[in-house]
Amino acid sequence: MNLILETERLILRPLELSDVDGFFAMNDNPNVSKYLRIPLKTRGEAEAYIRKIINEYQKNGIGRFAVVLKNTNNLIGFSGLKLRANAENGYENVYDLGYRFAEEHWHQGFATEAAQAWLKYGFNEMKLSVIHACAVKDNIGSNKVLQKLGFEFTNEYMANNEPHNWYKIEKHNLK
Ligand SMILES: CC(C)(COP(=O)(O)OP(=O)(O)OC[C@H]1O[C@@H](n2cnc3c(N)ncnc32)[C@H](O)[C@@H]1OP(=O)(O)O)[C@@H](O)C(=O)NCCC(=O)NCCS
Repeated sequence: MNLILETERLILRPLELSDVDGFFAMNDNPNVSKYLRIPLKTRGEAEAYIRKIINEYQKNGIGRFAVVLKNTNNLIGFSGLKLRANAENGYENVYDLGYRFAEEHWHQGFATEAAQAWLKYGFNEMKLSVIHACAVKDNIGSNKVLQKLGFEFTNEYMANNEPHNWYKIEKHNLK
């Protein structure tokens, strides 16, 4: 996988095994993992998660990417499109947007900036007609990011015993 996207402040590049420590440090925070279905509690779990993503790059040609701050060259989060092969809310084999950032980098527009690059890539390069996303209903930050990007709320559904919101965006809704 040799794709790299660039935004004003960020580099989006494939995750590598050398990212495990930074990735684990970001995840090892109850505020970051609060709404995650698979919280990563050990370095080994973080490594297995990155291996799974690398496998998705090989299988599907896409997956969540590392987000690196240009200023410092540090990993500050992950963001990207993924082929959601398993059924969720009645959908399967759809592309969804996901993201996660280290808490010290919240509220600076990074989730939005990275996602905008991914939406452009998805519509213009992958030629997708629709991109989906979901968020736990109580995860206000994540729901706000999606709404700000132009995603439309579709329906509420239950997963993992928690109410979730399902969203979709089409190219003409891009902000
Ligand atoms: C959700 C998350 C990605 C937001 O990242 P971020 O970089 O802080 O988001 P942005 O700065 O791009 O914010 C986008 C908008 O959402 C709002 N927002 C972000 N977090 C918020 C929060 N916790 N509460 C209320 N609003 C919030 C911002 O104010 C901004 O709106 P504005 O421009 O009108 O002010 C980040 O909090 C995170 O990584 N959380 C933990 C992991 C997670 O929950 N991932 C999503 C799983 S579905």
